Amino acid sequence: MKTTILSLMVLSLMAFSVPVMASGDVEHPPHQHWHFNGMTGQFDKAAMQRGLKVYREVCSACHSMKRVAYRNLVDLGYTEDQVKNIAAEYTVTDGPNDEGEMFDRPARPSDHFVSPYPNENAAKAVNNGALPPDLSLIVKARHDGPNYVFGILTGYEEPPHGHELLPGQNWNKYMPGHVIAMAPPLSDGVVAYDDGSPQTVEQYAHDVVNFLVWAADPYLEARKRLGISVLIFLLVFTGIMYSVKKKIWSDVH
Ligand code: HEC
Repeated sequence: MKTTILSLMVLSLMAFSVPVMASGDVEHPPHQHWHFNGMTGQFDKAAMQRGLKVYREVCSACHSMKRVAYRNLVDLGYTEDQVKNIAAEYTVTDGPNDEGEMFDRPARPSDHFVSPYPNENAAKAVNNGALPPDLSLIVKARHDGPNYVFGILTGYEEPPHGHELLPGQNWNKYMPGHVIAMAPPLSDGVVAYDDGSPQTVEQYAHDVVNFLVWAADPYLEARKRLGISVLIFLLVFTGIMYSVKKKIWSDVH
């Protein structure tokens, strides 16, 4: 009997350790300090504005963000006029007009972010067959999203001895399987900041993750605020109920 239980325990331990072994060759990205984490977490608007700049000047060459509309950018602290100007820098195809033809016009705040490619096949054709995923929900679509995306952007290195890469492949410490089709998109100084923040790969990665977290979860702040109000309400309510109970039972001995 004892041996059966023992072997069952060993078996279940082995079963649990399989996934750990399978993912053992991928390093887990280190945890960064994020302003939006924790019970009272808030968005860092300055970081999000810089992150939008990184997205617009670098990532948007390959990655769409179809779920975000220009008008949503007021959340980042821009005025309606600033949002109009940002949108107007892009061109969308609209139509058909009265003659039945499609036409180009500047984007409006109500338009969604313009995609770099007309369709997925076009996107793959210019990226060695790999599809750059839409980034609107990427931090939700990956385990430990913010740290993971930060890790990918800062985790490029030379492949270890004995690993040959094909053309168009790159080695990344944090990519499952290590081989990634995206060439390192960031390098120090590629995006100019006008608020004095460091123009380094780490800072760009930090800022673009702040922007992507907002894009994937724009109500994060409101939800946390509501959570805190509920907790305060419950505390006060408990206090009131306690004094009511004391009063009601005060005559009973
Ligand atoms: C030159 C094109 C290009 C640029 C610029 C680019 N990417 Fe990519 N990205 C790709 C491609 C292609 C893939 C798919 C890689 C693969 O599947 O191996 C990818 C994949 C990714 C992934 C997903 C990795 C995964 O887990 O599947 C993330 C996250 C990402 N990119 C973020 C970014 C961010 C943020 C920027 C801007 C700082 C950026 N990329 C700039 C082409 C690009």
